[in-house]
Amino acid sequence: MVKSLEITGNYVTILDQTLLPHEERYIEIHTCREMIDAIRRMSIRGAPALGIAATAAAWLAVQEFTGSSNFQGYFEQQLQAIEDSRPTAVNLFTAIAHIRKTIADIDSPAEAESRILDCLRALIRYEINACVTMGENGAKLFQHNKLNILTICNTGSLATVGIGTALGVIRSIPRHLIDTVFALETRPKLQGARLTMWELEKSGIPAKLITDGMVADVMSRFRIAACIVGADRIAANGDTANKIGTFSLAVQAQHFKIPFYVAAPETTFDRSLTDGSGINIEQRNSSEVTSFAGTTSATENCRVYNPAFDVTPAGLITAIITDKEVYRAPYSF
Ligand code: MRU
Repeated sequence: MVKSLEITGNYVTILDQTLLPHEERYIEIHTCREMIDAIRRMSIRGAPALGIAATAAAWLAVQEFTGSSNFQGYFEQQLQAIEDSRPTAVNLFTAIAHIRKTIADIDSPAEAESRILDCLRALIRYEINACVTMGENGAKLFQHNKLNILTICNTGSLATVGIGTALGVIRSIPRHLIDTVFALETRPKLQGARLTMWELEKSGIPAKLITDGMVADVMSRFRIAACIVGADRIAANGDTANKIGTFSLAVQAQHFKIPFYVAAPETTFDRSLTDGSGINIEQRNSSEVTSFAGTTSATENCRVYNPAFDVTPAGLITAIITDKEVYRAPYSF
């Protein structure tokens, strides 16, 4: 299984996801700033992986401390810079909040470094196991054969450090039961086309790539067993932020009476939000929409709306598959 992030001595190595599927290049990340830049340009991405990347960034920041006093002041600045990297996946913020708590009473950088390394190792272990349990819990929902499943974005090993969330559930369904996994290309960053198809092909799971606009057509022509998607943040009432396009996938699933499942570890819940209206949706650069594969594909001065995520209302979600259990509506977390 491909590794999105690995601890290597006193730094970390990540697989640069911006280069996939053409090139499988691992890059060394030695500083907190390098990790922040990698998160921003999406060399590492996906909610669980972002929680781990944020923890790793904090660990690198501690190692960079050279002063002899005010370690806490220095470190808090670094934590805030990490929090500014991407706003929607709650895993990143939960991870940083956990680190703040863990080192609150510590002035020794050496002691802080060892505690944060423990946090990093524990979080990696947790997310690997959560993917396995989520997969087992989700796979029980699928007993029939000739299953056609729709999924969006990339929710596999690249987005986690394990077998994946939604893709982990798909991987846990006995192979002979699956007819086709339809992967949405996921405009504008093409996580479906570049990353999910790459992972599905490597795993030998029969799959077809479709554009985001083909969903209703596919649903009307094929017997679709379910849509399974990941999550970046789940509010207390079950409203779920995920990759842009997820909401419209859910609306279409409801029209065709197709079960719509969200798969996410417990680290993706934000119980401080009563509903999805409070979720901070990342707006990304307009060039992601006005160009395709490096070539401008829109009018020169066109204005653009480019949210990276949308919020699917809880009412459209059949069940939320987690590492604890499979929650059914009405949700109350
Ligand atoms: O912008 P990305 O690629 O970080 O968005 C990722 C997603 O939306 C995933 O579906 C989500 O993080 C769940 S990943 C297991």
